[in-house]
Amino acid sequence: MSKIKFSVDGRECFGKPGQTILEAARDNGVYIPSLCRYEGLKPTGSCRICTVRVGGRYMAACTQPLSEGITVENTAPDLEDMRRAMIEMLFVGGNHMCPTCEKSGNCELQALAYRYQMLVPRFPYQFPLRTIDPTGPKLLVDHNRCIKCHRCVAMVKTKDGKSVFGPLYRSKRKKIGADLTLAAGLTDDQAKKAMDHCPVGAILKKEIGFAVPIGRRTYDKAPIGSDVETPRT
Ligand code: FES
Repeated sequence: MSKIKFSVDGRECFGKPGQTILEAARDNGVYIPSLCRYEGLKPTGSCRICTVRVGGRYMAACTQPLSEGITVENTAPDLEDMRRAMIEMLFVGGNHMCPTCEKSGNCELQALAYRYQMLVPRFPYQFPLRTIDPTGPKLLVDHNRCIKCHRCVAMVKTKDGKSVFGPLYRSKRKKIGADLTLAAGLTDDQAKKAMDHCPVGAILKKEIGFAVPIGRRTYDKAPIGSDVETPRT
């Protein structure tokens, strides 16, 4: 198979036809931060955390196909600051309440905030009025933390392929709704996967909480991106 030559921040890399910039960068040990993307799912390009610059143009690395000879900027200070601003916006636009969240330490948004050393956001908190839906037998859906990445829409399905989650409304009113009848039919394993696939703490499995103590969770042990990055020589 022919190789595609490209560079990220001056580092020479090689990718395969059909790969996106983000996939090829990861194969070369270069971490491009991502949030809505999930391995194995068609990328939706909804969060824009993976924005890189190619030839002066901004593009989402998770959706942009690789092409021969491109020079990708990934860690330019203005790009990193733009990502930090996006993360801050996600925090101020919801009610995340990390200290009480079951996903704390396993939350990708929180892990990115640590990576970008976010302290006080530059934007005012919105404190939106959002609901919590605790009525299903297996799942609790907390809209306060939802970042509308659509992962659950694509991944959480019943045995016969029906989506349990789906977008409702538009613009500011947009939310991800759950079909509680379908959600009630999920197995324990499916409910656990629904929780694990949510990048934040918007979908929580009921009955067992804090099974792994805070301090021993995924991003307590290693920062986000450390599984991809190889040190520069
Ligand atoms: Fe690329 Fe969200 S990870 S747009």
